[in-house]
Amino acid sequence: MKVTAIGTGYVGLVTGACLAEMGNHVVCLDVNPEKIRILNEGGIPIHEPGLDAVVRRNVAAGRLQFTTDVDKAVQHGTILFIGVGTPPDEDGSADLQYVVAAARSIGQRMTDYKVIVDKSTVPVGTADKVRAAVKEELEKRGLGGMDYSVVSNPEFLKEGAAVEDFMKPDRIIVGSDDEQATLMMRALYAPFNRTQDRMLVMDVRSAEFTKYAANAMLATRISFMNELALLAERVGADIELVRRGIGSDPRIGYQFLYAGAGYGGSCFPKDVKALVKAAADTGIPLKVLTAVEEANERQKRVLVDKVVERFGADLTGRRFAIWGLAFKPNTDDMREAPSLVIIDELTRRGATIAAYDPVSMPETARVLGPRDDVALVERADAALQGADALLVVTEWKEFRTPDFDAIKAALKQPVVLDGRNLYDPALMKTLGFEYRGIGRGLLA
Ligand code: NAD
Ligand code: UDX
Repeated sequence: MKVTAIGTGYVGLVTGACLAEMGNHVVCLDVNPEKIRILNEGGIPIHEPGLDAVVRRNVAAGRLQFTTDVDKAVQHGTILFIGVGTPPDEDGSADLQYVVAAARSIGQRMTDYKVIVDKSTVPVGTADKVRAAVKEELEKRGLGGMDYSVVSNPEFLKEGAAVEDFMKPDRIIVGSDDEQATLMMRALYAPFNRTQDRMLVMDVRSAEFTKYAANAMLATRISFMNELALLAERVGADIELVRRGIGSDPRIGYQFLYAGAGYGGSCFPKDVKALVKAAADTGIPLKVLTAVEEANERQKRVLVDKVVERFGADLTGRRFAIWGLAFKPNTDDMREAPSLVIIDELTRRGATIAAYDPVSMPETARVLGPRDDVALVERADAALQGADALLVVTEWKEFRTPDFDAIKAALKQPVVLDGRNLYDPALMKTLGFEYRGIGRGLLA
């Protein structure tokens, strides 16, 4: 099939590359010429495991192209995915300007039937806005009767595992009120459904809602565990044992129960805010979800609280090593990363930082800009020298079994504050560390 992906970010690029892998002919469009230049020169603008191989293979096979040429992109696809950003507006609601602009650019150029697919995470009712924007543009061209369908197909991929998630989806949600479009979506996704039919077809509004409900549920689990972790510390329980104890109940399950330094990324924070705002606007305040967001804001400061508890509120002259800057492992994405809050809070109190991340150093440098109080170092051990404590913020694999003797020798005092519960508190004690994890009341 002929497919166009409008917006070549995490979602658009992964969607385009993985659909090309299944034999479709895909054109990826972006308004950012720099991104398209990098892709056309064989690079990948983001760090996403496995993506470069899929992109390279399909470009070489002539099934995947990148362009800034809107005419070409709109003409190419019969199925057009809109995968542009939906960042938070000032009031927390999803800013739909890019989605509507993409819809207009389709309406301004299409000359035959198209299935327009909302892949971006968008509030309930957005498909109607997309349909209206396309219609308005068609009418301006005197083509008001031209046929097209608008479908919702939210994306559930996780960064760092995006290719795998796209290739082996738990479910494919298709919101469609129109039979022709449903048939085309079924055909497009048939290769992903070979062992088991994973496609759930529903009405458009329920599909749009499903995406927010999924992210809200996952964020709720995390904030819930983070709050329990705070309590566990006070009452002398270990949240890691509690996690296993409750996760073994199949009604609860093990996934997304890890207490930590707070959730970040380009989805949970913005989607929770957007759902809270949309609900409030309709007169149904979401009390649970409002608390989820508040708990997360507090959680992002939990490591800072531990620093202040140990070293006092005035951190002038102190230096802290930070391991892990990206909002999660296997990505260079810094959007809403807890590390940024921690860096901000510690430096505001007078501290300096030496920070390391396996892949997000360039992105961190771009986001932070030039700073005298933050040194971005090229190796994990280089961050430690002369630091008052090590803070672990992202659970990259290379931090899991470090050389503890070397850490001890390099730090001014052997203080490790572990925001992802990577280390065994009993072992750390034996090794002579002052160790604090998250919610490990009994042992640390
Ligand atoms: P992104 O910021 O990485 O990429 C969006 C791209 O769209 C940018 O490259 C931008 O230049 C481009 N763009 C903007 N307007 C355009 C236009 N009119 N025409 C062509 N290109 C245009 O965003 P993302 O992380 O890929 O997220 C996209 C959407 O998918 C959001 O709604 C997000 O919530 C949702 N989503 C993201 C993830 C994720 O893990 N990142 C997962 C599921 C859903
Ligand atoms: C999330 C959703 O998982 C995905 O389905 C959706 O499409 C986009 O948003 P992503 O943001 O890429 O994916 O990463 P995810 O693995 O969900 O982690 C989000 C944040 O939650 C990270 O900061 C992570 O550290 C945190 N997290 C996750 C926890 O603190 N505890 C957990 O148990 C799981």
